[in-house]
Amino acid sequence: MVLPAYVGALDRKERQKIALITGASSGIGLDLAQLMAPHFDLIITARNQSELEKIARELEAKHGNHVHVIPGDLTRPDAPRQIFAEIERRGLAIDILVNNAGYGAYGLFAETSPQGNMEMVQVNIAALTSLTRLALPGMLERKAGKILNVASTAGFQPGPLMAVYYATKAYVIMFSEAIANELKGSGITVTCLCPGATRTKFAQRADMENSRLFKLAAMRSLDVARAGYEGMMRGKTMVIPGLLNKVLAQSVRFSPRKLVTEISRSVQKKVD
Ligand SMILES: NC(=O)c1ccc[n+]([C@@H]2O[C@H](COP(=O)([O-])OP(=O)(O)OC[C@H]3O[C@@H](n4cnc5c(N)ncnc54)[C@H](OP(=O)(O)O)[C@@H]3O)[C@@H](O)[C@H]2O)c1
Repeated sequence: MVLPAYVGALDRKERQKIALITGASSGIGLDLAQLMAPHFDLIITARNQSELEKIARELEAKHGNHVHVIPGDLTRPDAPRQIFAEIERRGLAIDILVNNAGYGAYGLFAETSPQGNMEMVQVNIAALTSLTRLALPGMLERKAGKILNVASTAGFQPGPLMAVYYATKAYVIMFSEAIANELKGSGITVTCLCPGATRTKFAQRADMENSRLFKLAAMRSLDVARAGYEGMMRGKTMVIPGLLNKVLAQSVRFSPRKLVTEISRSVQKKVD
């Protein structure tokens, strides 16, 4: 893998800096961990502790950095505070926060699980907001820090058949752009990564592997992660990986919303 020169240049200097990555047990989060491990110590979190331990030992053996494992279930409202309490107990500080954990669920809203919806809102919105709020005081004190929030191109328009998921990602986009503005001049940058369909466990977990969206065009997770990582290192506010995703994200801004919503529904439909 060839990384740009500025990434290699950070190598020794940045080694002691620590990045907390949520949802690092698979997909985009795991690829972000793999891209960042040569340059930073890591704290990785997700629910699957044994998978996280395996990943941590592999990364440490390969890159000689420290990879700390702090498992947590972000559907639990107290999880962000518990993760930060454990970080403090271990005497660590967060220089980079990657809010990547998230998931979707397919189906008509009226037929979805009420508790499942609340849990998705908790992971995709509430935990991301809490973790960001918890990370900021230390970053502000050090006048340095980076935050990478993983939203989605789903956040640019309404998403019939995945109404809650699309709405959670709209929140992540608005929240990230707003605090990026508030933090201007503070030494802290906020980057919002908006992937389109990406080949990870996401589609299977959301029961939408057969949707037109995923059948049409799905990017490689590593390419998405690399775009997010490089955008974050450059301090970009918005990163949309892939030309098609960029064009689609722009096109919805100038199209009638009812039409956009109909098209959005039609690409969500399942095909054989
Ligand atoms: N794949 C796509 O098409 C796509 C497109 C746009 C945006 N995204 C976004 O990209 C991010 C990463 O998703 P992915 O595609 O890489 O999917 P993935 O392979 O399913 O990974 C999701 C990660 O989130 C973690 N996670 C899920 N529920 C959790 C919970 N309750 N508590 C803590 N961690 C939890 C999972 O770990 P455990 O199961 O071990 O907890 C896993 O590490 C998500 O925010 C997703 O919305 C994905």
